[in-house]
Amino acid sequence: MNIKILSRNTDLYSTKRLVEAAEKRKHNVEVIDHLKCDLVIERRKPSIVYKGEVLSDTDAIIPRIGASVTFYGTAVVRQFEMMGAFTTVDSEALVRSRDKLRSLQVLSRAKIGLPKTVFTNYSRETESVIKQVGGTPLVIKLLEGTQGLGVVLAETKNAAKSVIEAFNGLKARVIVQEFIKEAKGADIRAFVVDGHVVGAMKRQGKEGEFRSNLHQGGSAEVIELSDEEEIAAVKAAKAMRLGVAGVDMLQSSRGPLILEVNSSPGLEGIERATGKDIAKTIIRFIEKHV
Ligand SMILES: Nc1ncnc2c1ncn2[C@@H]1O[C@H](COP(=O)(O)OP(=O)(O)OP(=O)(O)O)[C@@H](O)[C@H]1O
Ligand SMILES: [Mg+2]
Repeated sequence: MNIKILSRNTDLYSTKRLVEAAEKRKHNVEVIDHLKCDLVIERRKPSIVYKGEVLSDTDAIIPRIGASVTFYGTAVVRQFEMMGAFTTVDSEALVRSRDKLRSLQVLSRAKIGLPKTVFTNYSRETESVIKQVGGTPLVIKLLEGTQGLGVVLAETKNAAKSVIEAFNGLKARVIVQEFIKEAKGADIRAFVVDGHVVGAMKRQGKEGEFRSNLHQGGSAEVIELSDEEEIAAVKAAKAMRLGVAGVDMLQSSRGPLILEVNSSPGLEGIERATGKDIAKTIIRFIEKHV
C-alpha cells in the first residue's frame, strides 16, 4: 500500500514512529510537507504537485496537521480525499475539532459529560457569567491557547472579574469554566483508534499546579480506565467523527468530564507511558479500511 504521512518535520517522534510502523508492515511510506503541496483543481482530475512532481497513487494518508496551519492543511487533506485516498482523519472532522467551542457544542449534543462552560461575546455582565458556572473558583481559558498557556485558575470573584475583564479589554476570546477540584491537578488522555481505547495515561501536574500539561512540568503514567471512562472516550471520538483521537478528560465526582478531543494526538507521551505500539495500531486501522 502507498501511505503518505502529512507532516512538516520528519524528525518528530510521531512521524518517525509512523514511518517505522508502516515500513515494518511492508508498505511504501513517504512523509509529505503539506505546506509544500500545490493543489491542482480541474474537471474530474484533482491532483497534487509536490516539489515539482505530480504525486502518484496514494492509498491512504495520515494527516499530522498543526493547529497553526489548519486552513491549508485541511485543503490538502480534502484534495487527497477527492483523489480517493483513505484518511485517518477526514477533513471535516479536522476542521470541527480545531474549533474548541463548536467541539463542546457537538459533545454536549451527544450527551457527553462536560465541565459547565460559558462563552460570551465580551459580555460586560461578568458577575452573571461567574454565577452561571457556579461561582468561584473557576477556570478561564484563552480560546486560542494550547499546552496549558492561557489557562488561568481564578480563586475569588474579584480575581475572576479582573481577569475576564482584562481579556475582554484585549479582545481576546475566552471561555469560562467550572473548576473541577476533585481532578486534583490531573487529567486523563485516552487514545482512541477505530472506536476502541488503545492506550490511556494519567497526567499529573507538578506540586501546586492545577494544569497537568507535560509542558508545564507534569508527569504521565499508564492508567486502567473505568468502564464509564472508556465509554465516554469512545463516545466523544465518535461524536467528533474521528477515527484516531486523543480524548482528554477530568475525573469528577459526577463521572468523567471531557475537556477536549484532539485530532492529531502525539504518540510520544502515550507510547512511553503505556509501552504500547500505537503507531502499529494506526497502520492496522488503515489496512482494515483500504
Ligand atoms: N475546568 C477545569 N477544572 C480543573 N482543571 C482543569 C479544568 N480545565 C483544565 N484543567 C487543567 O488544566 C489543563 C490545561 O487545560 P486545557 O487542556 O483545557 O488547555 P490546554 O492544554 O492549554 O489546551 P489544549 O488541550 O487545547 O492544547 C488540563 O489538562 C487540566 O489538567
Ligand atoms: Mg490540554
